[in-house]
Amino acid sequence: MNNISAVILAAGAGTRMKSQIPKVLHKVCGKPMVEHIIDVAEEVNAKKSIVVIGHKAEQVKEAIGHREVVFAIQKEQLGTGHAVMQAENFIEDEGLVLLLYGDTPLIKGETLKALINFHIKGDFQGTILTADFENPTGYGRIVRDHEGNVVKIVEEKDANEKEKSITEINSGMYCYHAKLLKEALKKITNDNQQQEYYITDVIEILRKEGHKVGAFKVEDKADIMGVNSRVQLAWAEKFMREGILTKHMEEGVTIIDPKNTYVEKNVKIGMDTVLYPGVILKGDTKIGEDCIIGHNTRIENSIIKNKVQIQSSTIVDSFVDEGCTIGPYAYLRPNSKLGKKVKIGDFVEVKNSSIDDGSKASHLAYVGDAEVGKNVNIGCGVVFVNYDGKNKYKSIVEDNAFVGSNVNLVAPVVVRKGGYVATGSTITKEVPEGALSVARERQKNIAGWVERKGLLKKD
Ligand code: UD1
Ligand code: CA
Repeated sequence: MNNISAVILAAGAGTRMKSQIPKVLHKVCGKPMVEHIIDVAEEVNAKKSIVVIGHKAEQVKEAIGHREVVFAIQKEQLGTGHAVMQAENFIEDEGLVLLLYGDTPLIKGETLKALINFHIKGDFQGTILTADFENPTGYGRIVRDHEGNVVKIVEEKDANEKEKSITEINSGMYCYHAKLLKEALKKITNDNQQQEYYITDVIEILRKEGHKVGAFKVEDKADIMGVNSRVQLAWAEKFMREGILTKHMEEGVTIIDPKNTYVEKNVKIGMDTVLYPGVILKGDTKIGEDCIIGHNTRIENSIIKNKVQIQSSTIVDSFVDEGCTIGPYAYLRPNSKLGKKVKIGDFVEVKNSSIDDGSKASHLAYVGDAEVGKNVNIGCGVVFVNYDGKNKYKSIVEDNAFVGSNVNLVAPVVVRKGGYVATGSTITKEVPEGALSVARERQKNIAGWVERKGLLKKD
């Protein structure tokens, strides 16, 4: 597509949110609103996104600093036109400019693509994204002449009765020819009811200079819905969530209860995977085909391959290979890597460890900073003792080893291939290949002791 710059207005205070957090940083489906707009700008291949910030600018900058954007500062909020003026120096003369708001998280890339196409095909110099609202109160209205050509946008506060009855409203998003927009910005005044510099004036300015301006109407009104309050924030959340889940269902994912399933935008899910109620999938998570993600499971930034079954567990920044079974109540903390067909059972915590194909930790274990080989059995209650209060150390358990129940492996330590650690042992030295290692007191029986102590209970 054309050379596009996106200008995203995010300088306003958003007083109706009643918040210390700048409005555009409030999250919808786990992501600050303004980031959704940046995503959409990327989707339409904008070469550059310029975010205009003002209210709590530092906070906004810090929160989205990792994104590929440039910031323009609007010190005082003197109106939408004034906000765009602050971005002017970053806009190249060639190509198109998309003007967007940081608080309309539901706008879709395909809608903006359609707007751009309409703009180009119609040979317009400026095109407004509009919608028909039954109740247009509060919005700028689109004034057309008797032939239906767009003439101007009039703000509610400046509108006469006839103009107020117009139901076609200005979404606040536009596509402009860059150079003409920049020239028009110089001509905007604050001669209006609110004494603000209105970006909406650009339409009339272009039109008066003989340029062709147009309006592209959206069907899906949610697209242009702005968030000004917590109630609207919850609506946006609901809309976006439904949209995301519907897409997954259309692509072959079963979602048992969409009202109680939370999947963020970047998550990918394979065919025939089933999501049970209460599932939360966040960040850059990728789930394979034929998986069962059981109720109340939370997975963040993790890769889960095909045919994995997870029940009521938490997985963060980890990798799970094909055919594993996890949970209930397992916790894979960052940098855990499970091989194929690994079993992690109830109340098992894994952290910064790899556990290779076919190994099992079926119940009540802690595996931290470890490298566990293939077909290893980690018994009930095993603890990888990785921390001495100061430093962390690594343990290695090689292929086919057996670590009995209630064993402590005090790191750094190695259990060699096929090593067999007897239950209850506290292992501080290497267990050689194929050896049995017992590291506990032998059992001693003292006959008659209970009676001698007068502790014998009579039936
Ligand atoms: C604006 C439009 C109106 C449109 C409506 C759609 C103008 C004059 N009016 O009205 O036609 O129907 O949006 O929602 O443009 N902002 C800044 N700096 C400023 C002022 C605003 O960054 O100095 C940002 C705000 O943070 C907000 C957006 O621009 O994200 C819109 O500002 P707002 O004051 O809400 O505009 P409206 O009066 O609603
Ligand atoms: Ca508004």
